[in-house]
Order: sequence, then C-alpha cells, then structure tokens
Amino acid sequence: MAVEKTFVMVKPDGVQRGLVGEIVSRFEKKGLKLVGAKLMQVPQSLAEEHYAEHKERPFFKDLVSFITSSPVFAMVLEGDSAVSVARTLMGKTNPAESAPGTIRGDFGLTIGMNIIHGSDSTESAAREIKLWFNDESVAYDRAVDVWLA
Ligand code: TYD
Ligand code: MG
Repeated sequence: MAVEKTFVMVKPDGVQRGLVGEIVSRFEKKGLKLVGAKLMQVPQSLAEEHYAEHKERPFFKDLVSFITSSPVFAMVLEGDSAVSVARTLMGKTNPAESAPGTIRGDFGLTIGMNIIHGSDSTESAAREIKLWFNDESVAYDRAVDVWLA
C-alpha cells in the first residue's frame, strides 16, 4: 500500500447542517491524517475549474451555483490508499444508492446535495490539492501511526 494524499470537501449543505465535525471525525477515526483544512467561500472561478470535467453536463450550472452558495470545508487527508479509502467512506455519488454507514448514505437524500466531495484518483487528488491548497499541506508525525501501519 502507498501513502497518498486526497482532497475532500464538505459541501455547503454539510456545513449548513452542522455535519463538519461528524464528517471529520469519521475520517480521523478511520486513521486518515488531517494535513490541511480550511472553511471558505468558493469563488465562481474556482468552482468552475474544480468541476471542469463536467462543464458540458446539464447539471454543471446548478452544481457551480450550489458550491458557491455558502461556505465549504476543504481538507487534505493523508494515509495508506487515502484516495480510495475516502471515496469508500463517502459512498456512491447518488445518496439514494449509498449504503447506510457511508457519509452520503447516512446524511444525503438527493444527488444535487450529496454532502461531500472526494478526489476520484491520485491524479485528480494532485490536481485538486494544487488548486485548493496551492500544493501546501502540514507535515507532522503522529504516535498513533505506529498502530495503523
Ligand atoms: P461526479 O464527479 O460524477 O460525482 P462524485 O462527486 O461522486 O465524484 O459528479 C460531481 C457532482 O456533480 C456530484 O457530486 C453531484 C453532481 N451531480 C449532479 O448534480 N447530477 C448528476 O447527475 C451527477 C452525475 C452529478
Ligand atoms: Mg467526481
């Protein structure tokens, strides 16, 4: 297994509903290490760049206006297979199809407001960490990592 970094963001619905702490807690308890975090209002240009792969899709306009409607909580998480592990904890894109126990399965109802974003590959993670965190994260040791290796 390889140590990876991934980009995760609690979307405006998750922040408004007071789910930031619960969501961060799930990733922490899983063993992923928080190496970057910020609450921010997303500029239109950043939302469009982040979701550029979807710019021709019919939901693009609504997606960008949703992401810019209220603050998001952006994070960088690190750990073994962090990209796929974070996606597994999140559940499927459509919360209605996400298993109970996943973040979208437990808290989401519609695909338009599905609570959370997570990078879908190591390539996406690298692009998104550069875009949202200017490639910066905090390096530090945790004693608990001895028990997670
Ligand atoms: P996508 O990258 O396919 O999903 P994921 O967030 O799981 O990587 O789509 C990006 C976001 O676009 C998705 O989280 C919610 C929104 N979306 C819609 O509103 N309608 C849709 O039909 C799809 C596929 C996505
Ligand atoms: Mg995606």
